[in-house]
Amino acid sequence: MTAPVTEVSRAADLLRAGELVAFPTETVYGLGADASNQLAIGKIFAVKGRPADHPLIVHLPDASRLERWAVDIPDAARKLAAAFWPGPLTLILKRHPSVLDAVTGGQETVGLRVPNHPLALQILREFGGLAGGGLAAPSANRFGHVSPTTAAHVREELGAAVSMIVDGGHCAVGIESTILDLSTGQARILRPGMLDAAAIARILGYSPEYGGARDAPRVSGSLEAHYAPRTRLQLVAPADLVATVRLALAAGRRIAVLAVPPAALEHPDVAWCPASADAAQFAHDLYSKLRELDAMGRELILVESPPDAETWRAVSDRLRRAAAGSK
Ligand code: TXA
Ligand code: MG
Repeated sequence: MTAPVTEVSRAADLLRAGELVAFPTETVYGLGADASNQLAIGKIFAVKGRPADHPLIVHLPDASRLERWAVDIPDAARKLAAAFWPGPLTLILKRHPSVLDAVTGGQETVGLRVPNHPLALQILREFGGLAGGGLAAPSANRFGHVSPTTAAHVREELGAAVSMIVDGGHCAVGIESTILDLSTGQARILRPGMLDAAAIARILGYSPEYGGARDAPRVSGSLEAHYAPRTRLQLVAPADLVATVRLALAAGRRIAVLAVPPAALEHPDVAWCPASADAAQFAHDLYSKLRELDAMGRELILVESPPDAETWRAVSDRLRRAAAGSK
């Protein structure tokens, strides 16, 4: 997808002027600001309603800019960047002294990634230049809510609060990037994503651990309650699904269900939303479907738990947090 040159130029001009521009990436839409501009970064926190100590990911046009943002860059980072950038992988590295505290949340590390979306890359290249070419961009949603995967989601969520929303269609991956911490001499996945441990292990020659170290930096994507719809969401094991639906109906509750068909159980008080049996497709659809289910205004959303397998880990992680956050 290529945008009219004028749209990309306008986005880059606004970003250089310290404005907020929402733009598509392959994972979710980002709320972008010049990562070297303190005032612009302040706007991100204000618009999202995000606590100031939660760090932001800096998006780069290519890996050649790494040295501007990080120091003591390990070999593993260069190998992974060569293998997966542009792509849905964020690397946590030791920060360059010039990186703003507002971006790192005052920590000694910085999150970096090159997004794989033609519009994001065009904007990043055009923005380029003097300030180091980095765009800080959290997901373009209010803090704790479901991330946006279409331009319409961003409009609903942030609307007039941003100067421009660049429309790049539905995000291909659909959930946020894998966050890999390489700042400690070990490789640790702080947030699972669709780029999984097996793919990382193929490049590194060893498998990364999961979870932060005891004194790990704060990761809002790892808060127990996150990515949550407004309606209460409950995960249900496949074997219990029909019984749980029947029980809810017997109790007179109006519910919505996200499940792999054919779990058909026709009833006017049940709204079925078909789920994919394929992990990549499920991830692609997940946030759109959570928004649809939320908009139905039911009392309860039931979601059939995905299989307990490595390929489903990132999806399961988001669903678990959505359930925790909706209570
Ligand atoms: O796919 C994505 O990563 C999307 C798109 C827009 O690129 N961005 C995204 O940003 O999900 P955000 O801000 O919603 O989530 C970024 C996560 C946060 O949980 C933040 O705490 C963590 O990355 N993070 C950023 N810098 C970090 C650092 N230095 N150390 C540990 N975690 C960090
Ligand atoms: Mg987010």
